Amino acid sequence: MKTPSKLVIIYLLSLCIAGCLGDFIHAKYKSGHSRDQVVSRRYMAEVSDCDRFLEYIKNQNIKVHHTIRNSFFNSISFEIKHLDKEHEYATLKSIMNHDDVEAVSPVHVYKRAAPATSQDMFKVSPEEAGYRSTHRLLQIDKVHRELNLTGEGVFIAIIDTGVDYLHPALGGGYGPGYTVQTGYDFVGNKYGSVPGSVPEPDSDPYDDCTIEDSSDGHGTSTSGIIGGYDLENNFIGVAYKAKLGVYRVFGCQGDSTTDIVYQAIDKAFADGADIISLSVGSDTPWAAPESYESKLFAKIKERGVIVVAATTNDGDLGIYSTSSPSTLDSVYSVGGVYNEYVVYDGTFTAAGISGAVGKFTLFILPYPPLIMHVEYQVLSITEDGTKLYMTDGDLSPSFNGTGDISKDACDVNNISPTVQGKIALVKRGPCSFVKKALNVASAGAVGIIVYDNEPVFSNEDRLVNTTIPYAFISLQDGERLESGNSTVRVKFSSSRKLIYKKNPYGGMATFYTGLGPTAELDLKPNILAVSEDVYTLLPRYLGSWTIFDGTSGATPLVAGSIALYLQYMRNKNVSVDTTFEQFQNYASVPVSADAGGGIDHPVRVGAGLIQVYDAITQTTHISPAQISFNDTASQDYKTQNLTITNPGQTTVSYRVFNNASLAIVPYDRTVSGYRLLGTVKTQAASADLAFSATEIHLEAGQSQTLTVTVTPPNTDPLDHVMYGGFIQLDPITNTTTTTTRPLHVPYFGVVGKQYDLPILDRDYNITVSQTKDGEWVTVNEYVIDIAANKTDLIIGCKTLTPTKIMRVEIFEDEKCTQLLGYAYYDTVYNQVYNHSPWVFTFRGTFTKDVASNIYDYSTYSQTFVQVPGGQYYIRQKFLKLFGDPGKENDWEYFTVGPVVIKR
Ligand SMILES: *[C@@H]1O[C@H](CO)[C@@H](O)[C@H](O)[C@H]1NC(C)=O
Ligand SMILES: *[C@@H]1O[C@H](CO)[C@@H](O)[C@H](O)[C@H]1NC(C)=O
Ligand SMILES: *[C@@H]1O[C@H](CO)[C@@H](O)[C@H](O)[C@H]1NC(C)=O
Ligand SMILES: *[C@@H]1O[C@H](CO)[C@@H](O)[C@H](O)[C@H]1NC(C)=O
Ligand SMILES: *[C@@H]1O[C@H](CO)[C@@H](O)[C@H](O)[C@H]1NC(C)=O
Ligand SMILES: *[C@@H]1O[C@H](CO)[C@@H](O)[C@H](O)[C@H]1NC(C)=O
Ligand SMILES: *[C@@H]1O[C@H](CO)[C@@H](O)[C@H](O)[C@H]1NC(C)=O
Ligand SMILES: *[C@@H]1O[C@H](CO)[C@@H](O)[C@H](O)[C@H]1NC(C)=O
Repeated sequence: MKTPSKLVIIYLLSLCIAGCLGDFIHAKYKSGHSRDQVVSRRYMAEVSDCDRFLEYIKNQNIKVHHTIRNSFFNSISFEIKHLDKEHEYATLKSIMNHDDVEAVSPVHVYKRAAPATSQDMFKVSPEEAGYRSTHRLLQIDKVHRELNLTGEGVFIAIIDTGVDYLHPALGGGYGPGYTVQTGYDFVGNKYGSVPGSVPEPDSDPYDDCTIEDSSDGHGTSTSGIIGGYDLENNFIGVAYKAKLGVYRVFGCQGDSTTDIVYQAIDKAFADGADIISLSVGSDTPWAAPESYESKLFAKIKERGVIVVAATTNDGDLGIYSTSSPSTLDSVYSVGGVYNEYVVYDGTFTAAGISGAVGKFTLFILPYPPLIMHVEYQVLSITEDGTKLYMTDGDLSPSFNGTGDISKDACDVNNISPTVQGKIALVKRGPCSFVKKALNVASAGAVGIIVYDNEPVFSNEDRLVNTTIPYAFISLQDGERLESGNSTVRVKFSSSRKLIYKKNPYGGMATFYTGLGPTAELDLKPNILAVSEDVYTLLPRYLGSWTIFDGTSGATPLVAGSIALYLQYMRNKNVSVDTTFEQFQNYASVPVSADAGGGIDHPVRVGAGLIQVYDAITQTTHISPAQISFNDTASQDYKTQNLTITNPGQTTVSYRVFNNASLAIVPYDRTVSGYRLLGTVKTQAASADLAFSATEIHLEAGQSQTLTVTVTPPNTDPLDHVMYGGFIQLDPITNTTTTTTRPLHVPYFGVVGKQYDLPILDRDYNITVSQTKDGEWVTVNEYVIDIAANKTDLIIGCKTLTPTKIMRVEIFEDEKCTQLLGYAYYDTVYNQVYNHSPWVFTFRGTFTKDVASNIYDYSTYSQTFVQVPGGQYYIRQKFLKLFGDPGKENDWEYFTVGPVVIKR
C-alpha cells in the first residue's frame, strides 16, 4: 500500500524550487515543466552541431556529462564548474548567446521509480502463482495459447534500476541467447546514494547491489513481468521471448537526473529498440509541447518507436495527478487495476457479535450466539521468514473510546487496558502497522487483527520483525467486530488452507492510479493494466520473488502486450498511432470501484483495461482513439470526426451509441472554494452525443467517417464537472459473426470554462516570513535590512489549479502602476498539489525585463541587480488556465507591501 510520506517530500522540494534555482533569464532559457529539484550548475543545451559546441566550450571551466547525438536531436548536458553564481551566469549567458545553441534547460532530479509499497520477498506455490497471474484479465494467456505469440523478434528496452539477469527465471545469463541481451549502466552502484555522487558508467546493466544497500530491485521486477520464464514455479512473463535491453539509470539508492534518463532513451533508440518501457516519471500534469522532453519523445515516435510510461501512484490526490513523460502526446500513459484474485490464509469465526453492519447483513441473527465467518490474511513474519500464526482467543478493541479512532493504536496511551492478554482489534491508518503492533503488544496484547479503513480490501503488507501474530481483514468485517461486545471470542481455522477468492474489485482501477487529464485537457491515462498484486521477480539478493504494487507494474504489462501485437504484425508496417489506437479500441471498460458502481471515467481509466487477444485479432479500427471535447468556452471542439475502417475480409455492421460514465466532480466548492478533492466524487450527469449515423455497415476494405457532436450535461458550470464516457460500437449480429467484438472511443469534457477557475487558494493564509535563527518566522512588517542581516522575504501561497506562468513584479507604488521590474524569472508549467504551497523568496534583487510569452522568449538577457533602497510593492501574478499572457485580465494577482529595503 501507498504511504502518505510522499506529500512531505513534495512539500520540501517545492520550497527549494524558488530558493535553489539560479536567478536567470534569457531568450533561450527554458526552465522545463518538471517540478522536481534542479541540479546545481547543470544544464542541457540543444545544439545544431555537437562538435562545434564542444569545441567552443573546451577551454571554459565546463565538464561535459552526456551527449545525445543523432540525425534528429543533438543535445549536450554539462556542468559549469564555477562555484560562484556570477561566473556561472556569465558562462551560461555566453553559451546561450552562441549561434549553435537553440535552447538551454536546467537538469532536474529524476525521482527514483518507487513501487507503491516496499517490496518484500514473497514466494508462493505454483498453484498460488497461477491464481495470482495477471494474464487472464488481459487475455494474455489466450494469446500465448491460441496464437503462439511470445514477443520473439521484438526488442523491448527497460529504463530502470538495472537487472539481476542471473536470476534463473531470466535465463541466468546475459547476451545473445538469453532474455536480457543488451543494455547499459549509466550510473553504477553508488550513484544517487550521497549528494554530489558521480556516475560510474559501464556497459553492463547488472544489478549487483546487496541487501545492505536497501536497494528495491525495481528493474528486476519490471523485467520479470515482461521476460520471466520459470515453468517449475508456474510463472511466465507477457512477452517471454522478446529481446530485452535494460538501461540502468538509478544506483542502488537515491534518484537520477533528467539528462541521464534522456541519454538512456537515446541509447535504447540507437540500439534498435521497438518499444521503450518507462516505469518512472516526474510529477506534473502538463504535456508542455515546447519542452525539451516533449520534443525528444515526439521525434522518437516519428521514427516508429513506441514509448510507454506509468502515470503516478498519486490518484488519491485528485485529478491532474499524472506525470511526465506519460503526459506527452507521443507517449502511451499507463494506469492500473486490481488483480483478479485475493488470497486468504484461512478463515476465523467470531462469536458474540451484534449490530452487524455493511454487506454482511446476512449474519444478523438472534442474539446469542452470533457467529461470523471472516477470511483473513496472516502476514506476520519473523526475522527468519516464517509466518506467525494466530491462535484462538478473545478479541478486544484497542480503541479506548476517547479521541479519534482513525488514529487507532498509533499512540500507546490511547490503547484500552482491556487488550491485556487478548487479541487487539485495530483500525488501519495513519501510522505503520508495525507501530500499531508494537504499541498493542506493549499494552499486553497477544495478537493483532487490523481491519482496513476503506471498503476496497487490499493489502499485501507484511509485518516484519513483529513480536505478535497479525491478521488483516476487511473494513466491513472489522466494523462488525468493533460494534460487538467488548470481548469477542475468535477461533481460527486449523487447516490453514489458502483460499482463493475472486476479488470483487478485480479489473477495477486502483484507488492510487494517477488521474488525468493534462492541464491542457488532453485525455490521460490512455490505457490500464494490472498494477496491484502483480507476482514477479526480485533480484536474488532480495529473495527472488515478490508481489508488486504500483503503476510501475502495469507499464511493462502494456509494453509486453504491444510486443505480442508487433510480433503478429511483423512486416505489416503498422504505425505507432495505429498500435496505440488498436489497443484503446478494444480495451474493456472497468466498472468504478466507488460506491454506486457504474462505468468508470476516462480521466481515471483512459480507454479501459487492455485486452490483448481482441486488439490482435480484430480488424475494424477507429481513429482517433480518444476524444477531448475540451471545456465549454468555445464551440471549436464540440464536433469531432472518427474514421472507422474495415481492413478485414468480411462485411461488418455496428450499432453506435453513447455509453456514458458517471461524471467526476473534481473540486470541493462547499468547504474551501476550489480545492481539489483528493478522492474525486462522482455524479450522475452525462452528455448527449449526436452521431452522423447510428449504424455503420462496412464492406471489406471500406471506411467511413462518423461525426460526433456533443451537448454537455446541464450541470452548474461553476462546478466544473468532468463528464465522460465511451462512444460504443456494438456488432450487429445479423450480418457479423459472433467473433466480432465491440469497440469504443473514450471521450470527456468539462462543463464550464477552465479560464474561470481560480488559481490562488484564497482560503489559505498567504504568509510572509523571514528567517530567524534558521527558522521561518511570520512577519507583518516587510523589511529587507542588509546591515541588520535581514535579507530574505519568503512569501508562501497555495495554488488550486495548475498555472502555466507565475510571475513576480516589483512596483514603486501601491496601485501597481509604476513597474520597477521583476523579482524573479517566470516560473512556467506549475502544477497543483494538495498540501503543497508555492514559496517565493525575495532577496532584494530584480531584473528589468521578463519573457512575456513562454513560446517565444524575445531577446532578454538581463541578470539580476539590486533594488535600490526605498519602499516597494511585490505583486505575484498567475496566468489563468487557457489565458493569454498578453491580457491583464487573464492573470490573477496578489500584492505584498509596502516592502522597505534598507541599504
Ligand atoms: C503453436 O505452436 C505449437 C508448437 O510449436 C504448434 O503445435 C501449434 O500448431 C501452433 N499453433 C498455432 C496456432 O500456430
Ligand atoms: C483514553 O486515553 C486517553 C489518553 O490516555 C485518556 O485521556 C482517556 O481518559 C482514555 N479514555 C478512556 C475511556 O479510558
Ligand atoms: C528486522 O530486524 C533485523 C535484525 O535486527 C534488521 O536487520 C532488519 O533490518 C529488520 N527489518 C525490518 C524490515 O525492520
Ligand atoms: C453484550 O453481551 C451481553 C451478554 O453478554 C448482552 O446482554 C449485551 O446486549 C451485549 N451488548 C451488545 C452491545 O451487543
Ligand atoms: C482546449 O482548448 C484550449 C483553449 O482553446 C487549447 O489551448 C487546448 O489545446 C485544448 N485542448 C485540447 C486537448 O484540445
Ligand atoms: C468532419 O467530416 C466532415 C465530412 O467528412 C467534414 O465536412 C468536416 O469538416 C469534418 N469536421 C472536422 C471537425 O474535422
Ligand atoms: C441487418 O440489420 C440492419 C438493421 O439493424 C439492416 O439495415 C441490414 O440490412 C440487415 N442486414 C442483413 C444482411 O440482414
Ligand atoms: C487564517 O488566519 C486567520 C486569522 O489569523 C485564522 O483565523 C485562520 O484559522 C487562518 N486560516 C488558515 C487556513 O490557516
